[in-house]
Amino acid sequence: MPVVKVKDDHGKTMTLREVEGCYLPLIRVPYDQEEEFLGRMDWTARPDDILICAYPKSGTHWVWEIVCMLLNGNAERIHLMKEMAMLECLSRSALDSMTSPRVLNTHLYFGQIPEDFRQKKCKVVYILRNPRDVAVSFFNHHTRLLDYEYSGDWHQYLPRFIEGKVDYGSWFDYVMDWENAMNRNQLNPTHVLTYEDLQKDCVKEVGRLATFLKAEGTASLYQDIVNQCNFKKMKKEKDPLEDATEWKDDQPGMYRKGIVGDWKNWFTVAQSDMFNTVYRERLKNTVLPAPYDQ
Ligand code: A3P
Repeated sequence: MPVVKVKDDHGKTMTLREVEGCYLPLIRVPYDQEEEFLGRMDWTARPDDILICAYPKSGTHWVWEIVCMLLNGNAERIHLMKEMAMLECLSRSALDSMTSPRVLNTHLYFGQIPEDFRQKKCKVVYILRNPRDVAVSFFNHHTRLLDYEYSGDWHQYLPRFIEGKVDYGSWFDYVMDWENAMNRNQLNPTHVLTYEDLQKDCVKEVGRLATFLKAEGTASLYQDIVNQCNFKKMKKEKDPLEDATEWKDDQPGMYRKGIVGDWKNWFTVAQSDMFNTVYRERLKNTVLPAPYDQ
């Protein structure tokens, strides 16, 4: 996949991969990534596969961990990186060799997912998060992960985020694409949840997820899962799994703050007004379950 240096209006570049007109992150894998990625559309799904789908920085690690625990019926940590079950980081043989039920995750658009996942009616868990918090989280991700070679500041970054000059493109395009797909697509049973609802009442959300997955457990199991997936605990236990050398100052940053509303510490009033205008214009036809219009 061609490596591209995507420039913004300030002349700042971000190093990404471009494939089929989309930007992807530079993922380090020991096989021909382009060949595998381009061949993925005919990969074989299994009826009990679960796909966790979200724009980056929406809480994918958190939900992936919860879903794995629910399916395992216990609150034990999985000593695996979420990236090992990420569709766009896998080869066909790696996917085929995973044991069932496979809890996969992806930031791809609906149309980029192999067709067999639709035909086999695999369950989809779709996560939404306030795009302002997503922008702040992604900014920290882009400035701290060395592969991006990105040195813009927050003021230079926000327009880049809105335009989608980042891996997986624009948040607005992503959510509109998924919403259109969910309205059109009658095949995949889909459960929508938000990062904010998870923060507000995690036990309730774990219960809702369990019902959707037909993996119901006791109230005490749900509570144990919530405790195990607590942000501080996950940060402490997962950071060592990350390759510190990939991060600025050798400090892994996948688990940063884990709160709702950090955007208020970053957006100026002018940026907030501008973002609200863009939001209303770009999502005027949406029926998102949690409209983040302010
Ligand atoms: P912040 O950068 O705002 O802290 P993803 O997993 O999709 O990449 O999302 C990453 C975001 O989810 C980060 O947000 C990260 O800190 C947060 N996160 C990860 N695990 C979490 C948890 N257990 N509880 C709350 N937030 C979590």
